[in-house]
Amino acid sequence: MFKLEGHAVLIRKPTDLGEADVTPHEIYLGRRRFLASGLAVAGAALGGALWAPAADAGIRLGEVRPGPFGTDEALTDRKDVLTYNNFYEFGVSKSDPARYAHRMKTDPWSVTVSGECEKPGTLALEDILAPHAFEERIYRLRCVEGWSMVIPWIGFPLGDLLKRFAPTSKAKYVEFETLYDKKQMPGQRRRVLDWPYREGLRMDEAMHPLTLMAVGLYGEVLPNQNGAPLRLVVPWKYGFKSIKSIVAIRFRETQPTSSWMKAGPREYGFYSNVNPDVPHPRWSQKRERRIGEFRKRPTLMFNGYAEQVASLYRGMDLKKYF
Ligand code: MTE
Repeated sequence: MFKLEGHAVLIRKPTDLGEADVTPHEIYLGRRRFLASGLAVAGAALGGALWAPAADAGIRLGEVRPGPFGTDEALTDRKDVLTYNNFYEFGVSKSDPARYAHRMKTDPWSVTVSGECEKPGTLALEDILAPHAFEERIYRLRCVEGWSMVIPWIGFPLGDLLKRFAPTSKAKYVEFETLYDKKQMPGQRRRVLDWPYREGLRMDEAMHPLTLMAVGLYGEVLPNQNGAPLRLVVPWKYGFKSIKSIVAIRFRETQPTSSWMKAGPREYGFYSNVNPDVPHPRWSQKRERRIGEFRKRPTLMFNGYAEQVASLYRGMDLKKYF
């Protein structure tokens, strides 16, 4: 399951997890120390070889170094992270993604970048990833529904990727789109959302060093149910902003309308910053249940990342721009 081959770490892709495959927390923590120790990093190549065909079940994440903005809160159990998901493309129940997401083919994969930039184009996943070094970042993820998790993500800053396409001065926002394919994503046959799933960020939010393009979690390549092969993690915003399985990125002059804004404009705003003082029209956002815990805990402003991001919203009425 976890072995060294040459200098790169070989990690099995957990598409179809059984009970026995779930790593106990202590083993994972040991693995984390190993990754952080630098033993795993020697000479790891960050080339196209990172994404070997999934068919042989051996995918190289290569070098993963510890990144900034970590929290020392207890990690959410890996099994919960992999089996309690929101990924409506595979159904609206929390257990649907783990059950059905293996139907999604993530290799080959490409991303089309368009709009207000000097270097648009369609890039294969290998080319998207090649220049970037991977880091592990332990982030809190707070879902708009009132639960939260602490997850050790692996990825790289979204801003580093966006800069490569040379956005013009007209690029005020970035829009993201998930794969749209009813054959692979049975949930898209029902119009619960206006497919494909769309999300957006203001340019300064997208370029913020906290904003992560994730390719893995818990020391492994992203499982399909968590948004393989490429997803956003924007830890100070409600979880639905962290769009999964991205196939398109568009630089825009005007603010994009996300799928959730379309579905309920009074309930889901463009910003969707975690804010205990702005209730959802149908429930309070003051408290949250950390998955694996019984008692609820207070929700923190910007999900606890106020020090890093509050300045982005200085002078804005956050009740109006929810
Ligand atoms: N992305 C897509 N494409 N489809 C979705 O249904 N759900 C969002 C977000 N990204 C969703 C998505 C919501 S509501 C949450 S809380 C997070 O993914 C959940 O991420 P996780 O399952 O990896 O914890």
